[in-house]
Amino acid sequence: MFFSLKSLSITMAFLRLVVANIQDVQTRAAADNTQERRISYDPDLQQQLTFPLFELADPVTTINPTDANFGISAVAPGRFLTSADGTKIFTEARGDPSNPAIVFIHGYGHGAMVFDDIFNDPLWLNRVYLVRYDTRGHGRSDKPTNAAAWVSQRLAEDFDAVVQSYNLIRPFVLGWSLGAVQIADILSFHPPSYISGAIYDAGVPYLASLPNVTSPAASAVIPGLNETTNVTEFQSSYIDFINLCHPALEWDFYLGCLGDGIVQPRAILNLSFSRTQNSTGLLQAGTSGALSALAIFGGDDRIVLNQGILDAIAGWQNLTVVTLPDAEHFTWISRPVLFRATVLNWIGA
Ligand SMILES: *[C@@H]1O[C@H](CO)[C@@H](O)[C@H](O)[C@H]1NC(C)=O
Ligand SMILES: *[C@@H]1O[C@H](CO)[C@@H](O)[C@H](O)[C@H]1NC(C)=O
Ligand SMILES: *[C@@H]1O[C@H](CO)[C@@H](O)[C@H](O)[C@H]1NC(C)=O
Ligand SMILES: *[C@@H]1O[C@H](CO)[C@@H](O)[C@H](O)[C@H]1NC(C)=O
Ligand SMILES: *[C@@H]1O[C@H](CO)[C@@H](O)[C@H](O)[C@H]1NC(C)=O
Ligand SMILES: *[C@@H]1O[C@H](CO)[C@@H](O)[C@H](O)[C@H]1NC(C)=O
Repeated sequence: MFFSLKSLSITMAFLRLVVANIQDVQTRAAADNTQERRISYDPDLQQQLTFPLFELADPVTTINPTDANFGISAVAPGRFLTSADGTKIFTEARGDPSNPAIVFIHGYGHGAMVFDDIFNDPLWLNRVYLVRYDTRGHGRSDKPTNAAAWVSQRLAEDFDAVVQSYNLIRPFVLGWSLGAVQIADILSFHPPSYISGAIYDAGVPYLASLPNVTSPAASAVIPGLNETTNVTEFQSSYIDFINLCHPALEWDFYLGCLGDGIVQPRAILNLSFSRTQNSTGLLQAGTSGALSALAIFGGDDRIVLNQGILDAIAGWQNLTVVTLPDAEHFTWISRPVLFRATVLNWIGA
């Protein structure tokens, strides 16, 4: 079952009705103890249960430990793609491919799982084709630690592999936190028309802007994430980092965030933060009016400096700025309904 309790709790009245029916059917099915009987109760409900949960989601894939994925062994919905340089990228899509597509790019030290609340939400799934991937060096994807694997073009190629694999035509790109810098990588190798729009969700526009957009609290914690000798220092820094992203997460999700930190080689931090990137393509796309952007901020974000982000993209012609009141760095977890409405309205889904 892909629904989490949380995603169910945030949806609207009609969904509560469906949930009530599901529980009802499950109760009766349990009493009857036959799958056939359960289906015959209500074909419409069965349709709602299987769409989008099974038919329109990637199959469950076994992840076998290799050196390149840092020894991860697991099963998860999704599939591996091979990027141009051979790096295996773990990716997943849910929803109806005929809807507008959004590709979600997570931030540093996290994984694509951070978007679970969105990918489990029927109100998103009804309107958008949701695509996400573990960026190289993260989650279930390969984690190369040689500098050649971290030149800008390699990250653009990872996005290309996802676009090709799901036959996406001009998708929207939602970049969260440090993940948003990959929009600059993409636009160094493609014209602005390659994507339909850029969504900066508490997003860092490009790496050179980092000193101006990182909060003092985040700057203080980052060196500890890179710690390779003092385990106590590494552990407390990671906990501080996740708490700065949101101080009151559900326990399972909190552990998932810490887990995505643990599966990374420490060298990835240096490679992610200090690689070379050219912001010219991105800024030309924005200042020429060729690419529209939506910048979403958390009013209480403790990781990024909202004004610094706006300064870094000064002159962007078609820019919509929405600050979600009281929202933390995990904007969509703090304000799920407002976040969803903001994105869906802006993309016109
Ligand atoms: C950082 O901010 C300062 C002061 O506003 C500005 O002069 C500088 O150009 C900014 N640097 C970058 C890389 O955006
Ligand atoms: C390791 O880090 C902890 C927490 O930051 C610190 O208290 C301790 O002094 C450090 N140990 C060494 C040997 O540096
Ligand atoms: C990570 O640690 C290495 C080795 O100490 C250092 O060269 C690098 O600057 C650090 N990176 C960051 C982002 O702190
Ligand atoms: C950190 O990154 C810089 C720039 O990419 C590199 O010169 C340096 O060797 C790296 N340090 C470590 C410890 O990996
Ligand atoms: C950045 O890209 C632009 C073209 O988009 C190019 O003219 C410029 O030379 C590049 N800068 C560097 C440092 O490579
Ligand atoms: C600005 O972007 C929005 C969202 O993509 C679009 O609907 C609108 O037409 C654009 N406005 C202009 C003047 O290009």
